[in-house]
Amino acid sequence: MTLGLAPLTLAVHTVGRSARSELIADVRTGLAATPKWLPPRWFYDERGSQLFDRITELPEYYQTRTETQILHDCAAAIAAAVQPESLVELGAGSCSKTRILLDAAHAQGTLTTFVPFDVSDAALSHAAHGLLDDYPWLRVYGLVGDFAAHLSYIPRLGRRLVAFLGSTIGNLDGSERRRFLADVRGLLAPGDAFLIGLDLVKDREELHAAYDDSAGVTADFNRNVLRVINRELDAGFEVDAFEHVALWNDAESRIEMHLRATRDMEVDIPLAQMRVRFAEDESVRTEISCKFTRESGEAMLADAAMRVVQWHTDPDQRFALALALPD
Ligand code: SAH
Ligand code: TRP
Repeated sequence: MTLGLAPLTLAVHTVGRSARSELIADVRTGLAATPKWLPPRWFYDERGSQLFDRITELPEYYQTRTETQILHDCAAAIAAAVQPESLVELGAGSCSKTRILLDAAHAQGTLTTFVPFDVSDAALSHAAHGLLDDYPWLRVYGLVGDFAAHLSYIPRLGRRLVAFLGSTIGNLDGSERRRFLADVRGLLAPGDAFLIGLDLVKDREELHAAYDDSAGVTADFNRNVLRVINRELDAGFEVDAFEHVALWNDAESRIEMHLRATRDMEVDIPLAQMRVRFAEDESVRTEISCKFTRESGEAMLADAAMRVVQWHTDPDQRFALALALPD
């Protein structure tokens, strides 16, 4: 019997400055602005990531179910076209849909490495350990970081398929999106490919329900950002005094999530050295979720020097997966 050295199967690296100093900077900028806003990455502490996973299972939240079905139907075609040696997933979260891609790429016989990248260390470690249990042949190199700043830390481990699922691109505004896609383009050598999930423009009622579910899970997720600020910055937000609001902004083709103060308040945020005043009905914008058409999705990728070579959608055209190559 020969017992070789076990290959390196799991490494998790954290990049970036201390998360707390970044949170302080974001809170100071966003809550001093008019109107007030907060960047969405702070939703995702351990509890936030678990709440997001519950959102993905809600009857009103069609996205995850639809994207999963599309992936089942098209993963083999994607894997055959790209023959990836490594799969990089940005904003990987629980990696549940990723398994479909891992299976398809493994069936091609090329894949050796998975590089999940996420801002949530809890979600990333949990997902990576689960994958190692189920995919003993896979090397997992996890990176905890901000995909708006740290994509250059991603190691090159053979031909790459870079995946960005869940329509997380819709959570970036125009300038963030351009910068992000330029960074993604920088990751792609000839032969590499980018797979992106896009939620499509649809009936308003259906969109609204997906962001304001009847069980109140999305409301709880939205308020979680206040709990994170209370814990990390010793702040005094009375979480239940803020109401979850989801609205459709037609001009921008996006859903917006807000937290609306139900009465006048002053909130101390000692570690940010701030006291913030809220008028009754004043709101803080916490998230945007842009919706796309085939035309706007292809144009967005073309602007970033990527060309769509496969476009997969469901029969009701709720969601799309676009496979793009560097120009
Ligand atoms: N890809 C999964 C999760 C989508 S939710 C799915 O399709 O279901 C968005 C994910 O992106 C979360 O896991 C969150 O932790 C991560 N995320 C949000 N902002 C981020 C940022 N700035 N940098 C890296 N990851 C981020
Ligand atoms: N990428 C997801 C989306 O835009 C993120 C998301 C789903 C979300 N539900 C949410 C963000 C509720 C904030 C609040 O659909």
